[in-house]
Amino acid sequence: MTDSELPRMPAGFLWGAATAAYQIEGAVAEDGRGDSIWDTFSRRSGAVADGSSGAVACDSYHRWRDDVDLLDGLGAGAYRFSIAWPRIVPSGDGEVNKPGLDYYDRLVDALCERGIRPFVTLYHWDLPQALEDRGGWRARDTAERFAEYASVAAGRLGDRVGDWITLNEPYCSSIVGYAEGRHAPGATEGHGALAAAHHLLVGHGLAVAAVRAACPGARVGITLNLSPAVPATSSEADRDAARRMDLLVNRQFTDPVLGGAYPDGFDRLYAGVSDLSFRRAGDLALIGAPLDFLGVNYYYRIHAAAAPYEQPDPALRTACDIGVRSVPREGVPVTDLGWPIEPRGLTDTLTGLAGRFPGLPPIYVTENGVAEVREDPGADPDRIRFIATHVAAAAEAGVDLRGYFYWSLIDNFEWARGYGPRFGLAHVDYPTGNRTPRASYHWLRDQLARQHATT
Ligand code: NOJ
Repeated sequence: MTDSELPRMPAGFLWGAATAAYQIEGAVAEDGRGDSIWDTFSRRSGAVADGSSGAVACDSYHRWRDDVDLLDGLGAGAYRFSIAWPRIVPSGDGEVNKPGLDYYDRLVDALCERGIRPFVTLYHWDLPQALEDRGGWRARDTAERFAEYASVAAGRLGDRVGDWITLNEPYCSSIVGYAEGRHAPGATEGHGALAAAHHLLVGHGLAVAAVRAACPGARVGITLNLSPAVPATSSEADRDAARRMDLLVNRQFTDPVLGGAYPDGFDRLYAGVSDLSFRRAGDLALIGAPLDFLGVNYYYRIHAAAAPYEQPDPALRTACDIGVRSVPREGVPVTDLGWPIEPRGLTDTLTGLAGRFPGLPPIYVTENGVAEVREDPGADPDRIRFIATHVAAAAEAGVDLRGYFYWSLIDNFEWARGYGPRFGLAHVDYPTGNRTPRASYHWLRDQLARQHATT
């Protein structure tokens, strides 16, 4: 095998690509959609690097047939996309917006007609603004509203959609959105971010039950972004820093979801920052209810170095101020976004999960991808190597791996970085909305055809 060939995966292994509603749909004011926190956040000056927003994006709300054609041409067995909560329940609770549901209904029908299995993410960061106005994820009520919306979506689509992902990357929705402020809603709070993380997980637990009730037989999981934290040097201080980073980024989520408990040491990180009284009896049983699968998003390893706390007064620290910083590592190649390229981090992530959680459910890599920050509709040799080496690394872990979704099917709105980074197997010309498959798309199509021919 070379760096430009996919390893042979077992029969039934699912190959797909992923997107998310706010990043591709556009049409933010059409057919009764309500505002989301990303509509509001991207209007804030300086929030998005190029001053852009998802208002038009790839116009997939109108051009979804093009996306389905691309998937079909690729030979994809599955498509992971997300539903925009504000299209379904524009005010966060109360009235359901039928045209919003109709849109996903059409998309799901078209996928099923082509034999492409829909994997639906219920929350990929676009919280209805109306709920943020009532506290957002800081408030427990948002978790209840999320389960209601999940029940509506599963009730409408569950006859054709069998695979449901409750949340995408709750670390980003909580810590990046409520502590670092780099994502919507753009808050910089300690307590609020930790409460948000917990309430997202409560929402996950409630939504698992809601989807199963609305759609018996559905397979339900969650997608976590996992980044192994390795010490930048062998010093005790850096090793300790890596442990703290691991608690904040990974174990805050893996341990309650897969093991029904917050990890040892996690609460100690926040002594003086938060009294954690937002946790209630029974929450962990709900959050830790068995899942049908785990979605793993893997992009990079974190090289962690000890760094003085920026805010010496513990009571004023945010949830991300834990005395660690992520540093570049000499000799490690990086993507155009400066993200280290280390496929072995994916192997380590998967073997680490299997080692720590004996009843680990089947795993899908629900995202893995590389961005190029340049306008080149054609060649992307780095992407081919990236995919081949990461799939090989995932296979090497020897876990029950059921599928791999490349991020992303098409270039799209990369959140606070705007439209500069291009992750797509297909290039998008934003002025016209035209999609052009790149070299990696053609390569993947040929590789998938070979897999199918030999399985
Ligand atoms: C993870 C997120 O789920 C997705 O929305 C984002 O575009 C990719 N990472 C790339 O940063």
